[in-house]
Amino acid sequence: VLTSYQAYFAGQWQESESQETIEIRSPWRHEVIGSVQSVTQNEVDQAIAAAHRVQGSWANLSMNERGQYLDRWADEIEADVNALAMAVMDEVGKNFEDAKKEVLRTVDLIHYTVQEALHMHGQSVRGDGFPGGSKDKLGIITRVPLGTVLAISPFNYPINLSAAKIAPALMAGNTVIFKPATQGSICGIKMIQAFDRAGFPAGVLSLLTGHGAIIGDYLTEHPGINMISFTGSTQTGKHLSQKSIMIPLVLELGGKDPAIVCQNADLDRTAKNIIGGAFAYSGQRCTAVKRVLVNEAVADELVAKLKPAVEALKVGSPAEGSDVVPLIDDKAADFVQGLIDDALAKGATLVTGNQRDGNLLAPTLLDNVTPEMDIAWVEPFGPVLPIIRVTSNAQAIDLANRSDFGLQASVFTQDIDEALEISRGVEAGTVQVNGRPSRGPDNFPFLGVKASGMGTQGVHNSILSMSREKLTVLNLK
Ligand code: G3P
Repeated sequence: VLTSYQAYFAGQWQESESQETIEIRSPWRHEVIGSVQSVTQNEVDQAIAAAHRVQGSWANLSMNERGQYLDRWADEIEADVNALAMAVMDEVGKNFEDAKKEVLRTVDLIHYTVQEALHMHGQSVRGDGFPGGSKDKLGIITRVPLGTVLAISPFNYPINLSAAKIAPALMAGNTVIFKPATQGSICGIKMIQAFDRAGFPAGVLSLLTGHGAIIGDYLTEHPGINMISFTGSTQTGKHLSQKSIMIPLVLELGGKDPAIVCQNADLDRTAKNIIGGAFAYSGQRCTAVKRVLVNEAVADELVAKLKPAVEALKVGSPAEGSDVVPLIDDKAADFVQGLIDDALAKGATLVTGNQRDGNLLAPTLLDNVTPEMDIAWVEPFGPVLPIIRVTSNAQAIDLANRSDFGLQASVFTQDIDEALEISRGVEAGTVQVNGRPSRGPDNFPFLGVKASGMGTQGVHNSILSMSREKLTVLNLK
């Protein structure tokens, strides 16, 4: 019997009044693994009202008390690590080892968020710091919550990217409406079952599943939502920013992260980083390496190192520990195949790959990719890596910056001055020198520029973005 998972309305697990559910299929078992509720707009209203009712008392708890709840939640997640990792593997097709890493990273993230919030402090400012001001005027700056935060998480890190929004929101004193990606919502529900076991006051968090067409815009435009933290596609992020009115938004969107390979790069190290960066979890990461911009002087040597490494990747079922696993759905696989076909039709060289079995695509390496090919610019979110040969660092920087995206970039060189010069030239939230793009460690700021996002995440910055300054001025005497 398949489980019909209930939604979590202000501390109560319930079926939706719609009496409709959405089936969730495993991308690799190719069968339905459960169903989730299709909640109604009325239920959205009720959950948000409950979130507001309890927000004041939640914010009034001491930070230590809030932290104790969160620490208990992290402990519950840790106690459930194998079941949660299995859920991640089943629902989004990540191999078990990586799924387990995601869950344990989440445990660390929650504990770290508690500690970070406990160690943050406000400021005071003196009136006599400004011409004509008086030292009898003293400003005390504290941080206060925004109210109710809408957390929308993506399929590819259904546990970690949910907690990365929920934990800072709660530590800052907000209440939360959590809308997981539909594919990923069983994982979201299981992590909120752990939340429920931690005994939080009812209403501090509600988890709503449902159709974007019914509750997506409704949530975004809802006057009871005071901040939105979203990770997902650029298309949805742009839509959110058009729909939400005068509330802070943090958006983490797509990327087309380049690996810029200079003439004197350590090519073994470079190849290792490119392979892991491009193909882990079939490239379904916003921070995957999505193009290589390599100096033509070392391009042949690099390709010769990449080819056997790509061919050595384990391809197949996540249950067998594969690196390259079936994509999240058939549509995703069709999209990637379309990009490969376009590149080959326009004269790219197939180094290896381009085989397909349903939504499982072999890792594919394309050489001699040119700016005329879609794969040079479009984010595939799949296991295909284009190699673009360049004649200079200036050309690499130019191509890097001609992308709409600006999440991260990697520079491979053994010359620190060259690395810094390229870093200065590249428009991206982060430049990695001699390493693959990566969001973590989670205490680092994480941000994208241009179509890659808005605002900054990472634990410290997330707490800041989910609170605001409040100034109290003491006028003495
Ligand atoms: O696609 C999600 C993005 O946040 C990637 O995270 O940890 O794989 O760099 P990570």
